[in-house]
Amino acid sequence: MVKPVLVLNGPNLNLLGVREPEIYGTTTLEDVRSACTTRAESLGLSVDFHQSNHEGELVDLIQRSKTDNSGIVINAAAYTHTSVAIMDALKMCGIPIVEVHLSNIYQREPFRHHSYVSSVANGVICGFGSKGYELALEAMEQIINA
Ligand code: DQA
Repeated sequence: MVKPVLVLNGPNLNLLGVREPEIYGTTTLEDVRSACTTRAESLGLSVDFHQSNHEGELVDLIQRSKTDNSGIVINAAAYTHTSVAIMDALKMCGIPIVEVHLSNIYQREPFRHHSYVSSVANGVICGFGSKGYELALEAMEQIINA
């Protein structure tokens, strides 16, 4: 049986819609949650949707996903560029991982060009705004049902 896909959001993404809307858009995280739920249902999947500003809490959720989830869609936000702990946890979970970013991180400051998450992800979707989460779920469905 396919378990829910963990959709995990890192720091400051709780402020989506009001935080730098010229970069991240005006869609709120609640809008993203609802779009993910609807898209997942149409793909025959379900989602566990979380956001945390705390690295350790994100690590806990990733560790739990080994038994509780069939895949992870992750926007680790700023931790993408800094967190060996999140990379190590992802490496251990043994389920497919799709990395997502709202902005095209490669068009931005050089410190955003390196992602620890990419080194352990099946693939990366960035630059398509909040639509990227739905694209990530489509990719996840293809991986799970391949
Ligand atoms: C982000 C890009 C990161 O560099 C940044 O720190 C974020 C959001 C994105 O979705 O575009 O918080 O992950």
